[in-house]
Amino acid sequence: MTQSRPAGPGGFGFDARVAHPARVYDYWLGGKDNFAADRIAGEETIAAYPAIRASARANRAFLARSVRYLAAEAGIRQFLDIGTGLPTASNTHEVAQSVAPESRIVYVDNDPLVLAHARALLTSSREGATAYLDADLRDVDAILEQAAGTLDLTQPVGVMLLAILHYIPDLDQARRIMTRLVGALPSGSFVTISHAASDISPEAMAEMIKRMNQHLAEANHVGRTRDVVAGFFDGLDLLEPGVVKVTQWRPASDIEAGGPTSLWGGVGRKP
Ligand SMILES: C[S@@+](CC[C@H](N)C(=O)[O-])C[C@H]1O[C@@H](n2cnc3c(N)ncnc32)[C@H](O)[C@@H]1O
Repeated sequence: MTQSRPAGPGGFGFDARVAHPARVYDYWLGGKDNFAADRIAGEETIAAYPAIRASARANRAFLARSVRYLAAEAGIRQFLDIGTGLPTASNTHEVAQSVAPESRIVYVDNDPLVLAHARALLTSSREGATAYLDADLRDVDAILEQAAGTLDLTQPVGVMLLAILHYIPDLDQARRIMTRLVGALPSGSFVTISHAASDISPEAMAEMIKRMNQHLAEANHVGRTRDVVAGFFDGLDLLEPGVVKVTQWRPASDIEAGGPTSLWGGVGRKP
């Protein structure tokens, strides 16, 4: 099940002349799926906060650890990954299906380039399924309606919201999104969130976000405090160790736990 958008000015549904979050993030991760505008934004943000590359890698490691926990220890077999990003290492379906090949994953993103790459690269195990939705987090109902074509939304789901809520600058809107999403999930579902911090390396992060917004069409990147991020878990039981630096969420080693990051992260379970 794949939806597509009409082509934009670039003829492919995106404008390569304007930086986009997915492609700047790909640049930070050392990927090749980015354009000159993304690389300029990437370099300017790295100059403001040099640890951003390590922080992006730490976020991917958090994603892998949390999906592995959900699949291996919590028995989750279906995932809704909203704000997928460009395919890279340890994508959600790869981690989940390495534990349970029958896992079903729906990826959601609003970047047409992500859609094109996902179509080509996000292939499922034979026993499971992957699907890709070209949809926007701000339209939760559309996401749920379309995801229901692949996932059984009467059974527990692992919802992944990694490094996406910080592109919803209106806090009330972000809270409404969470209320709607969590409200629609069956008991036993999990929500994983990572989010740019305004209270980790605050001056460097503020400058980094300012520079990022100078390049994004929507200028919509925000950082938030740990307390505000913790509020996104309202209605959920937070798993230990709570909302922490993503490097400190059940780290594989002391070295991982001590690494740099500018992201808060946590996992909550719907009672
Ligand atoms: C920084 S990347 C994170 C990718 C991946 N979740 C991770 O953490 O490694 C943010 C992604 O969210 C997507 N995104 C941003 N705002 C969105 C929205 N309102 N609806 C859907 N996707 C969105 C971007 O296109 C991008 O792919």
